[in-house]
Amino acid sequence: MPLASIRSMLLAAKSGQYAVCAFNIENMEMAQAAISAAAELRSPVIIQTTPGTLKYAAPEIYLAMVRQIAAAAPVPVAMHLDHGETYEMAERCRAAGYTSLMIDGSKLPFEDNVALSCRVTAMAGETPVEAELGTVGGKEDGHGAAIDYTDPDKAAEFAARTGIFSFAVAIGTAHGVYKGEPRLDIALLKKIRAVVNIPLVLHGTSGVAAGDVQECIASGICKVNYATDLRMAYTAGVREALALKPDSFDPKYFGAAGREKVRLTAMERIRLTGSQGAA
Ligand code: 13P
Repeated sequence: MPLASIRSMLLAAKSGQYAVCAFNIENMEMAQAAISAAAELRSPVIIQTTPGTLKYAAPEIYLAMVRQIAAAAPVPVAMHLDHGETYEMAERCRAAGYTSLMIDGSKLPFEDNVALSCRVTAMAGETPVEAELGTVGGKEDGHGAAIDYTDPDKAAEFAARTGIFSFAVAIGTAHGVYKGEPRLDIALLKKIRAVVNIPLVLHGTSGVAAGDVQECIASGICKVNYATDLRMAYTAGVREALALKPDSFDPKYFGAAGREKVRLTAMERIRLTGSQGAA
């Protein structure tokens, strides 16, 4: 299929009380694995790239690769910019063909975050925009931050003034590997849900207990981001393959092993978030 918009995906998830997985990919094997997991489970899927990934290779390269893999898939695949850092980065990804864009002004003062998000929604036109208020903690692309919980009243004002399509909440999750047990504030999520009637996004989902993820979805989350889990799965597959045959020098050998681990992990996450059979 041609690349899909997350608009219909997330609105269907919102009314159906399930969530669509957004998988961060780093290479072709991870993209193939995530999309083949979705195809096998008849699920829509979102593929996304962070700024760090886009510094490693250009957005046009990832877009072309994902578009080709999606063209042969029997399920809708969206291509999303994750944590877009600047207006220019969002504009470039949109021009490349990304079907949705996140602009992350969460480290800026409130008014500056509103202004940046407004500029991006105006530029994006029909392309859906995600933004964040408050701070998801942990490390993404090597940058660390402490958790700063989303203020529900500010969230309502932010969503109304910016015209964003989806909203990333900070309710206690963190990017990267958790040092302790993550403690999510589900009551806060419900308060946000009560005043922000657009699709809500959970970041930092790797390492969150399955029951907590399901509770978040029951409380209004309809897009769930996974990066660390897939990076770890890929690397574990590569490590195991190289340990088994230390003399191997064919990247296809260990790449296929990484790809298979990512496929299995992605299938597990899709089953958990309830989008199986939704495509
Ligand atoms: P994790 O690395 O914790 O899965 O977070 C992913 C994410 O939120 C990407 O935006």
